[in-house]
Amino acid sequence: MNKLTNKVALVTGGGSGLGRAIAIELANYGAKVVVTDINLANAEQTVTMINASGGTASAFQQDVSSVEANQAGVEYAQKTYGALHLAVNNAGIPGAGKPLGELPIEDWAKVININLNGVMYGMRYQIPAILEAGGGAIVNVASIAGCVWVPNDPAYMAAKHAVVGLTKSAAVDYGTKNLRVNVVGPGYIATPLIQALPAENVADIESKHALNRLGTSEEVAHLVRFLLSDDASFITGAYYLVDGGYTAI
Ligand code: NAI
Repeated sequence: MNKLTNKVALVTGGGSGLGRAIAIELANYGAKVVVTDINLANAEQTVTMINASGGTASAFQQDVSSVEANQAGVEYAQKTYGALHLAVNNAGIPGAGKPLGELPIEDWAKVININLNGVMYGMRYQIPAILEAGGGAIVNVASIAGCVWVPNDPAYMAAKHAVVGLTKSAAVDYGTKNLRVNVVGPGYIATPLIQALPAENVADIESKHALNRLGTSEEVAHLVRFLLSDDASFITGAYYLVDGGYTAI
């Protein structure tokens, strides 16, 4: 159960949804977790949940689209827990819901800044810190949109495809340095945003998955925890779908 004991992990966007479930999962497996989010109150709520079940975590406010904030987040982990071994670049936003010919240019910039640059800036500072600690692992959270079409979200699709490429680049560069880097591609996950849609829309989305349902944040968290653990010691540069068979259809 405690396979991440003595590891220090940083999870971005840990104040909600997948990031919260991932932070809780890593803490349940013994990691000390730095929960970062642009929304500090929500990150603190995740920390309260972890502490209540006997885990160790602390919150840090961080806008992943800021270079300085990424550096500060890594330094905070090192200062608070003495090192950084594991990182999950999860923070992300959806786009404006328009096809490319109608996409507001500022929406492109915003989605790319958070969903792509945020991952790059994160890894830029996480990698030296993890090497300094003797090695570890990184998991980036992409989406099925990292390999297939999703409706009306060109910036999101471009960013998620690029995160897959960035992951492979880092995985090969650091393959002999005891640092593994992988990326996950969730299908549609049961979050308040999707559950709030009209029932027929939800049913339509569900039917696009072979399992005919939405995933749960915990199902994604299980995969992320596995990829960060030594059980995944021969896995790097891999893009793992956790999509209920969405891309098989
Ligand atoms: P969410 O909206 O529940 O959580 C995202 C978190 O990121 C929030 O706590 C938010 O405050 C934080 N955040 C937003 N902008 C930020 C910034 N600039 N800096 C730092 N934190 C910021 O979303 P969810 O669903 O948990 O998504 C997490 C990741 O999973 C995203 O990268 C998303 O693209 C990806 N994903 C989600 C799927 C889903 O169906 N929910 C499916 C596939 C991928």
